[in-house]
Amino acid sequence: MKIGIFDSGLGGLSVLNEALKKLPNEEFLYYADRKNVPYGLKSKDEILKFSSHAVKFLIDQGANAIVIACNTATSAAINELRAKFNLPIIGMEPAVKKAADLNREGENLASLRTLVIATPLTARGAKLKELIERVDSEHLVDVLALPRLVEFAENENFTCDEVKEYLHEEFAKFKLQNYCALVLGCTHFNYFKDSLREILPAGVSLIDGNEGTINKLISELSRLNLAHGKGQSVEYFYSDAKIYDNGELARIGRYLARLNKMLEIK
Ligand code: DGL
Repeated sequence: MKIGIFDSGLGGLSVLNEALKKLPNEEFLYYADRKNVPYGLKSKDEILKFSSHAVKFLIDQGANAIVIACNTATSAAINELRAKFNLPIIGMEPAVKKAADLNREGENLASLRTLVIATPLTARGAKLKELIERVDSEHLVDVLALPRLVEFAENENFTCDEVKEYLHEEFAKFKLQNYCALVLGCTHFNYFKDSLREILPAGVSLIDGNEGTINKLISELSRLNLAHGKGQSVEYFYSDAKIYDNGELARIGRYLARLNKMLEIK
């Protein structure tokens, strides 16, 4: 079985990384639409067009299931993609529900608010609004768009002063001591867990949607009873071009190594 994982760029490697740990026998196709990144600053129609193209490309390469490892593409296009293509498509939404459950478990927490960080398109999208309305009856969830982090991540700028200054400036708009959770509503944000941890009070948990997304994929695959692959492998594509270049593959390796380091930060 081949699983296509798609993102606007290299953020979705955080989802691939989780999949590699949990599905040791499957073949993966990773599609980074680097020609069109960032999605978060584009229109819904443009994202619909790019996402449809990427999903079709992955199906042509033999994908039996697709993971949209991008909150922005899920927000803009998941319904249309599911209507158009006849295979399982797993989307990704900011893990607001997970944060709410955590809140409920720790009912005696002094601070109860949740801050969702996302791209501008996800932040203003109807999907996130509906999700928040469903799980946040007490109006404890706030949303902050952080468009520049995507560009920093794509340029391998993870810890430079500019990143730290940007985050300090943006988070200064909030009373952080009132929060218990920060939801990473964009897969690119996983690269910045160390800088986020430095800025946030110790009581604020960092919550991403990677585990939930791969768990959903696993239950969908077992529901469909698709045959397992013969061994784990990954092919990488930047938009429609397969990556063979060793320098570029080494760069992807550095991204995955950074993500593994970030896994230790909660
Ligand atoms: N990584 C994507 C997400 O999860 C989108 C980043 C972008 O291209 O703006 O939303």
